[in-house]
Amino acid sequence: MGLVMEEMYIEWGRQAREALEKPVPVSFNRVFRSVIVAGMGGSGIVGDVLSTLSSKYSSPPIVTVKNHLLPGFASKEDLLLVVSYSGNTVETLRVFDSALERNIPMVAVSSGGLLKTRAYEHGVPHIQLPEGLAPRASLPSMLYGVVKLLYENNLLNIPFEIVEESVSFLEEETGKAIAKAGVIAEWVDRSKGLLVISTHSPLESLGLRGKNEFNENAKIPVKVDVAPEWMHNDIVGYEAPFLKDFAILEVVDPGDKVGVMLVDFMRTVYARVTGSFHRLVLEGNSLLDKILYGSMVFGLSSCKLARIRGIDPLKTASIQEYKKAAGAIFGA
Ligand code: PA5
Repeated sequence: MGLVMEEMYIEWGRQAREALEKPVPVSFNRVFRSVIVAGMGGSGIVGDVLSTLSSKYSSPPIVTVKNHLLPGFASKEDLLLVVSYSGNTVETLRVFDSALERNIPMVAVSSGGLLKTRAYEHGVPHIQLPEGLAPRASLPSMLYGVVKLLYENNLLNIPFEIVEESVSFLEEETGKAIAKAGVIAEWVDRSKGLLVISTHSPLESLGLRGKNEFNENAKIPVKVDVAPEWMHNDIVGYEAPFLKDFAILEVVDPGDKVGVMLVDFMRTVYARVTGSFHRLVLEGNSLLDKILYGSMVFGLSSCKLARIRGIDPLKTASIQEYKKAAGAIFGA
């Protein structure tokens, strides 16, 4: 792997631009009822972000599958996107195989692996990702490739200027994201508590992305609290927690007044158990800008925290350990 992790994130603007320049592998010339996106971890997050965008831009529903089970409702009326950076993730391959058996239209997305081989064998269109990246650091390649595919097939009604502007935005704001990431990493390190990402709808995918990044790069457990659902369950958990040390990372869209007020309210509750707060105010004009900016800050801050702790952000030994066992578990 040529690039160190931080460089992979710093080059996100270029990654996004290259993905947008590639022609899409297929034009379906037909209508689909829904889009199903299968993928795990760093590949699976693509489905979460797409689902947020489809809801915002009133597009056909996007359903995410983060396991080995193709949903029962899936039929020839739906389009399945199978996303695996390595192309070798057993759960994702299981979904691909089930879809083949059920004749479900598909597009595969990978840098290579068994998914690419099987896609070519069965005539399934394939989006080629650049090689040599960590799966989670290839988010723009996966996301923009798929956004273009869905847009051109009338499955995502996002104005295309918003997609193009987000690429320039990513390139221009990288410096700001690096600076903010450094501050967050040092704050998390000083806090030493359970990191809680406190955010508001419709930023669920970004909150989850933040958790995954701190898990995999910095090797720490993280909790994600999303208002207003938080107000109906998690809130009570802060009345009598076993754990006493929390570090609350607030993530807000400044253009969403209700969202900001909800996160402000959450602070009044957390303040009963901790004094450790930091706020990430998302930059950008569109929801896509904001999700990408936040994701870049999370990527870089989790790498920086890993470095402070003397940990390699790239290696995910326990995921590899699981992947070795997964073949036997799933009978692959
Ligand atoms: O980011 C990572 O390294 C992981 O979350 C992987 O994405 C996950 O294990 C699935 O692998 P892949 O993306 O190769 O399908």
